[in-house]
Amino acid sequence: MPNIVIIGAQWGDEGKGKVVDIFTEFADVVVRYQGGSNAGHTLVVKNEKTILHLIPSGIMHQGKVCIIGNGVVVDPETLLIEMDRLKEKGILTSTSQFRISTNAHVIMPYHKTLDHLREKKLGKAAIGTTGRGIGPCYEDKASRRGIRIGDLTQPELLKGKIEKVLEFLNFQIVEYYGGEALDLEEIHAQYVEFGKRLADYIEETPLYIHDKMSQGRDILFEGAQGTMLDIDHGTYPFVTSSNTVAAAACSGAGVGPTDINHVIGISKAYTTRVGAGPFPTEQENEFGEQLQKNGVEFGSTTGRPRRCGWLDMVIVKNSVKLNGLTSLALTKLDVLSGLDKLKICVGYEYNGKVYNELNSSAIDLDKCEPVYEELPAWEEDITNVRDFDELPEAAKKYVRRIEDICNVKVSLVSVGPRRGETIILQNPFRE
Ligand code: GDP
Ligand code: IMO
Ligand code: MG
Repeated sequence: MPNIVIIGAQWGDEGKGKVVDIFTEFADVVVRYQGGSNAGHTLVVKNEKTILHLIPSGIMHQGKVCIIGNGVVVDPETLLIEMDRLKEKGILTSTSQFRISTNAHVIMPYHKTLDHLREKKLGKAAIGTTGRGIGPCYEDKASRRGIRIGDLTQPELLKGKIEKVLEFLNFQIVEYYGGEALDLEEIHAQYVEFGKRLADYIEETPLYIHDKMSQGRDILFEGAQGTMLDIDHGTYPFVTSSNTVAAAACSGAGVGPTDINHVIGISKAYTTRVGAGPFPTEQENEFGEQLQKNGVEFGSTTGRPRRCGWLDMVIVKNSVKLNGLTSLALTKLDVLSGLDKLKICVGYEYNGKVYNELNSSAIDLDKCEPVYEELPAWEEDITNVRDFDELPEAAKKYVRRIEDICNVKVSLVSVGPRRGETIILQNPFRE
């Protein structure tokens, strides 16, 4: 009866959606616990691509329950569009398939307005947010003026809350940022309507999850973003506004650390990043462009090109510690096929000294030089390989070297975007 957390070990877009979809077969309940519609999780099932921003990536499996936990910030408009699409496709057929926490905070129109105005004001120093209102919504949560999903079903109470927060935020929007004030009545009417449409899905999700656990059900916790985007441990201020490390599964779903049995970290076989901020192994050259093209590295949420570079094991090693990883899933190994040579970053040189650990107060990530180890490459297309032993020798060596450097076993190797294009070496649900 394992409960498993899946997190991104880099800067997001590691392939969490695909891996969650695969392991959902063995789980009963899949829970999103942080982030919001800044996430874009891609699944390719039977040649059909689905990008999910809010609904957990377990939804493609019938007979499973998908939950949006209290730690998520929910844009009801995006959520309802996503639900409608899944209903049209015959995937979401019953309210029992999908539950949403009464305590999850709601992204309001003024959060999106503020996200845009703040980025504009920052100019060249902009973070490159997804513009989905994530930061401003988490700010309201922390300052105790936020609107929660449960509020949407109580029109009078909702109106009072919006009125209070809007008075303050409209002042900021108009007086500080020079934007246009938002209208209380309009927002209220729209969100009461959202509340009506979501009412049957709202649940006291921590109780629900604990009920399932006491029945011996297996829970899969689906992280969003990646460890380097964590608000505490990431490349601050170029981060998102939530904790993205595995511990957030506990607070964001309402379970304890002792309820978690395994933590799987997802890492690409190379590194990507969307938005601004340091990225030591970035390749701003033809090779970077080749990775971008071969890996189709364009954001699932904003469509922005992803910055690309060599695999940075200093970062992955750091993720092993911060998340307590029990195994690693390595994705997009197929993208490295046909290169002349492969490089793995094993340290940073900074002011004449080599650092093998990520120590942000000792080194400036923007100014450090990666120290690379070179490994042999392989020619063959590996998309059809399903057995680890059948991978080219150089590919096996690459995976084994990654395990050696971070001292964690690779439990899954992904060799293509489709569900079946996967080599499972160890299934934590079957231990
Ligand atoms: P997530 O946010 O971590 O779920 O990742 P995204 O869905 O944003 O980005 C990962 C992208 O890589 C998606 O387009 C996936 O379909 C694709 N993908 C996942 N695994 C593989 C793989 O092993 N090989 C290739 N070529 N593409 C993959
Ligand atoms: P998934 O779950 C990659 C990045 C943004 C920006 C920073 C802050 O698909 O891996 P935000 O809108 O959160 O305030 O933006 O974080 N970012 C992501 N990058 N994948 C994501 O999610 C991301 N979610 C946010 O590009 O740099
Ligand atoms: Mg993504």
